[in-house]
Amino acid sequence: MIGVFDSGIGGLTVLDEIVKLLPNYNYIYYGDSKNNPYGEKTDEELLNITSNIVEQFKKRGCKIIVIACNTATTRCMKKLKEKYQDLIFIGTVPAIKVACDNNFKNTLVMATPATIESERTNELVKDNIRTDQKIYLVPCFGLANAIERKDKKEIKTLLKEIFKDYKDKNIDSIVLGCTHYPHIKKEILEEVPNVALLDGSLGVAKEVKRKLDSNYILPLNEKGKVEILKVL
Ligand code: DGL
Repeated sequence: MIGVFDSGIGGLTVLDEIVKLLPNYNYIYYGDSKNNPYGEKTDEELLNITSNIVEQFKKRGCKIIVIACNTATTRCMKKLKEKYQDLIFIGTVPAIKVACDNNFKNTLVMATPATIESERTNELVKDNIRTDQKIYLVPCFGLANAIERKDKKEIKTLLKEIFKDYKDKNIDSIVLGCTHYPHIKKEILEEVPNVALLDGSLGVAKEVKRKLDSNYILPLNEKGKVEILKVL
């Protein structure tokens, strides 16, 4: 059994990719909308919230846990790994490496305030940026929560505000550094047409496969069931 979680509907975009690549495993998805937004919480609050989810997954027999959330990955995956050494954790980080490796010149990274300020995100920029590339880190206050509430009007207003200072920057790629954002690809492209939208879901799915291939820990006769727990 593989546990996948996020602060609501965001991680479903990651779960989809994993199930497509690995359909013969059983999954539980925990959509923690009750605690959304994660991106505006302290590290201590986040560690408490995510530890509770991990405990529930453990009780259900999960051996692999996918943190389908950039915020929880960049702010507390390290601590979760230390705390639960018997489990395998796979996280998701903004696809900054993908943008740099594909030679995009002006990349805008959209993510929650907590992800943007994290050490991990800043390391990703430092380790991958080349001299002819520019990367703009843009904290998107309230956006994940508006997506969770499906508030179309607020999403539109927030996107206008987010992009207003970057219209003349020749942006050629946008990193969707929060798993909620792939749900609004169409709305983003309406504001900034002709850009490549990059997210990390396929990379996460491939990493789950690599872990499964290298650790014989799950029975191979699972039925391929997905159970969705939405916490309101
Ligand atoms: N979907 C999450 C992420 O990838 C968190 C959104 C939130 O709850 O702030 O960062």
